[in-house]
Amino acid sequence: MIEVAIMGHGVVGSGVAEILLEHWDAIAQKAKNEINVKYILDLKDFSHLYYSDKFIKDFNIILRDPEIRVVVEVMGGINPAYEFVKACLHSGKSVVTSNKELVAAKGAELLQIANEKNVNFLFEASVGGGIPVLRPIAQCLAANELSEIVGILNGTTNFILTKMIKEKVSFEDALKQAQDLGYAEKDPTADVEGHDACRKICILASLGFGKHVYPEQVQTEGITKIDLFDAAYAEKLGYVIKLIGHAKKMDNGKITANVYPALINKDNMLSGVNDVFNAVMVYGDAIGQVMFYGRGAGKSPTASAVVADVIDCVKHLVARKYLSWADGDKNYVCDGKKALSKLFVRLNAKNVSETKNAVCAVFGEDTVIIEGVKENELAFLTEYDIEEVLTKKISKFDDKIAKVLHVLD
Ligand code: HSE
Repeated sequence: MIEVAIMGHGVVGSGVAEILLEHWDAIAQKAKNEINVKYILDLKDFSHLYYSDKFIKDFNIILRDPEIRVVVEVMGGINPAYEFVKACLHSGKSVVTSNKELVAAKGAELLQIANEKNVNFLFEASVGGGIPVLRPIAQCLAANELSEIVGILNGTTNFILTKMIKEKVSFEDALKQAQDLGYAEKDPTADVEGHDACRKICILASLGFGKHVYPEQVQTEGITKIDLFDAAYAEKLGYVIKLIGHAKKMDNGKITANVYPALINKDNMLSGVNDVFNAVMVYGDAIGQVMFYGRGAGKSPTASAVVADVIDCVKHLVARKYLSWADGDKNYVCDGKKALSKLFVRLNAKNVSETKNAVCAVFGEDTVIIEGVKENELAFLTEYDIEEVLTKKISKFDDKIAKVLHVLD
């Protein structure tokens, strides 16, 4: 029998406890060992639950109990999760977490400690909820040199955008629904402003390219400036709007990493990823392109990924799993403005035909221009070019710019 502890009994933690307690026999067969939840650490009162006898309020009980071999951290946030996880790893306990904020900020350091102590630090649930994506990148795609990772990484914003655009639900109502369904972060600003997607692209890029990418190195923009006019322009152009996390390897070995709302071509498979679903597209030299798709948030999908990691830890109590990457450095991530981009631009235009001519004079006669979506406005798509070259050209219309968004074909 292997004893485990769960730290945190929120949406994900309760899901993990329920699966481990209710499916213990099936899990025992898969883990080749019975897994017993000995403690659940949470300060709130859960005396109404049938497993209320497992709750404790003092972390040291877990730390000092040599029987505990695997600790599940599903508290979220950096503090005290970081101190707790570090202490558990140092004391020779494997740790499983769904905490993307922690992994994005401290992953390299915690993986290093796990390595030194010959224990596992696994975090499949931190990216893409229930989608198996980190393990396949680390193991199944190991033969590849990866060049690009792009994905819809936040279920809440994808749910909000889908509701707003397809069902004309207001932003506030869509967010409320996402919160009620347990998709949103405690503070949904992290979803809406792109911080959650930023943490996830950090983890994907760190694993995929082998060197830690820190959240402060990622240019991050959320969905708050998106309106229904953007969606209408996108529709007319054959695109949809999604929040994207995007990391790309440059020829000089450095990478670019960005989070932004983008117009996605309807021919691109990511355009069909709706509601709470997430998808991660990975490009590799041998594989070409592969997409991982599934439920990116919610109690059961996320708990499913956590429990799978617990089973993996139990099966590998004396062997290290594959996950690792080197520490990053401040020059590793370059400014996305040096990368190839295509942009969507909305311009205020008192005189539409005059403005159209001016756009064609700068961007060429073949420029795709859309009018008639909003009065006194037009929008156009640029061709692909280095982003700073494009922004310099667009700056000729500085006094007219209503919005600029990235485009993904
Ligand atoms: N708030 C996150 C999301 C939860 O909506 O994707 C899963 O990480």
